[in-house]
Amino acid sequence: MQQTTTGDEAATQGTPNDADLPAFIEQDYARYDSEAHAVWRILYERRMMTLRDTGSDVFLKGIERIGLASDRVPEIGDVNRRLKARTGWRAVGVGGFIPAAQFFRCLAQRRFPTTLAVRPRSQLDYLPEPDIFHDVFGHVPLHAEPVFADFLQRFGELGASARNEEETQALARLFWFTVEFGLIEEGEGPKVYGSGLISSHGDAANALGPTCERRPFSLDAVVAQPFEIDHFQQVLFVIPSFDELYRAVDELGRRFAS
Ligand SMILES: [Fe+2]
Repeated sequence: MQQTTTGDEAATQGTPNDADLPAFIEQDYARYDSEAHAVWRILYERRMMTLRDTGSDVFLKGIERIGLASDRVPEIGDVNRRLKARTGWRAVGVGGFIPAAQFFRCLAQRRFPTTLAVRPRSQLDYLPEPDIFHDVFGHVPLHAEPVFADFLQRFGELGASARNEEETQALARLFWFTVEFGLIEEGEGPKVYGSGLISSHGDAANALGPTCERRPFSLDAVVAQPFEIDHFQQVLFVIPSFDELYRAVDELGRRFAS
């Protein structure tokens, strides 16, 4: 995930200058060795074993729409060609965590900052920083879904125009309980769609298990709910549909403007 800890009024309007954006990194695909592809395959196959039952249909369809394969690290250019036709989103390579203000500006432009490195085999199950599996497998499939795509862009616009700590905190909590750790009501029960759940077996099992309290999503409840990043979540929120997410970010925008 990306922390959303600061706002920056400088980027409130219009198209940001390139100087306000992070340094983007081209993916040098030839540098992924057989070990990198093998780690991707292990992670992909292990998660898909349960995600076929516990993952949102939107995620499962998104995997196909952006052309992710089980046996090799994805090529960002190929993913972006597929995304372009659907929603205009694209993944852009970055070196690691970037300042929140830059992150918001990227989202406002339908660019998703993506780390390109594959985690080492010794850290298959837990990695404190994002890697390409978290960012591309965990996040990007949802960017093929038009309503989620609109929600995330609007979120970025709000983030880039946040004026104070209160607004920034509300945005951070909305991001955390949706983009990172969101659940959606589908079929027989809640399914996972947040990237932190999609990309982590342990977090997903916790989210759907008996020790996590799953509450109906509401904007007021989410912005009032603190979170901690370093242990399993005790409270998560279930949306009825992605339309609800768009309504929430739209409502937040109206509150910020008033
Ligand atoms: Fe993330």
